[in-house]
Amino acid sequence: MSGRFARDDEVAAWREDGWVLLEGLVDADEIDAAAEDLRYVFPLPEKFHADPERYRPPGRTDADLRRGYPEMPTTGPAFRPEQHRFRGEFPFYGSGLLTRLTVHPKIVDFMERALDSTDLRVYQAQVSAKYTGDANFEQPMHTDRNHSFLPPNMVSPWWHVESFLYLTDVAEDTAPTHLVRRGDAVGRSTNRIFMPDNDPQLYASERAAIGRRGSLLAYRPDVFHRGVDLTRLGGHRFLLNVSYKVAGSDWVGFHSVQSNATHPSWTQFVESATPRELELFGFPPPGHPVWTESLVNETGEKYPKLDLEPWRRALLR
Ligand SMILES: [Fe+2]
Repeated sequence: MSGRFARDDEVAAWREDGWVLLEGLVDADEIDAAAEDLRYVFPLPEKFHADPERYRPPGRTDADLRRGYPEMPTTGPAFRPEQHRFRGEFPFYGSGLLTRLTVHPKIVDFMERALDSTDLRVYQAQVSAKYTGDANFEQPMHTDRNHSFLPPNMVSPWWHVESFLYLTDVAEDTAPTHLVRRGDAVGRSTNRIFMPDNDPQLYASERAAIGRRGSLLAYRPDVFHRGVDLTRLGGHRFLLNVSYKVAGSDWVGFHSVQSNATHPSWTQFVESATPRELELFGFPPPGHPVWTESLVNETGEKYPKLDLEPWRRALLR
């Protein structure tokens, strides 16, 4: 497995500044191999730019996506539904390499150290794509209020980490997320969004999270940030959005993987995963009281290539 471990000062930066860009956490070669699976989710950039209209299927046009939303400006910062037109939820079709990036050892190691726990859950896993000209991607300054029923509570063990693994190089002109260090946002309520006119100082403090593919942008849910537009002609940006929490915070969540339990790519993932990797999705580990001999056998029928030996051994103890 490629890449490097996060340094202690990077973990500390996530806690103190609220965000950190872990440059090259995963090697570019490994990203490129996994990114082959994106062809099942997103149009190839060359094809998209040759005929963007072709890639706006019914229900995904601006008008369809905006139905029910109030009128919004076409310029300047706004949350436009079409900004999220291209996304795909875990698990992903193909080789399985893209799916497996969600539990990449270097990412799991960072999450364990940031959250000071090994009892973790992946609560958000999706890929997203942006293409120059497809939408105006500029957003106002906000915190992600759609990850929890509650305002952020950044106290162990209730805290969580949001992250973007870059699947393409993210440069100044391909929409690097802009973020503000916690120290530069003192006094702002995380229940609010801020427009440039009402808090120019907050905007002046933002920094662009530029990094090559394989870099991980990790940020706290109380960090102010915003998406910006792509300006590169024919540009695109692909990333894997993967967020972790400590097990037990039912009020924090985003995706439910159980609804994909019959998806062939979930079966493929289960059959390639270790008990530890499965536990990150809430799959009961060997020794959990739910297991009986008959449940292990039925689970073997559901996932024929999963090696259930660790679960069987634990039953004998
Ligand atoms: Fe956000």
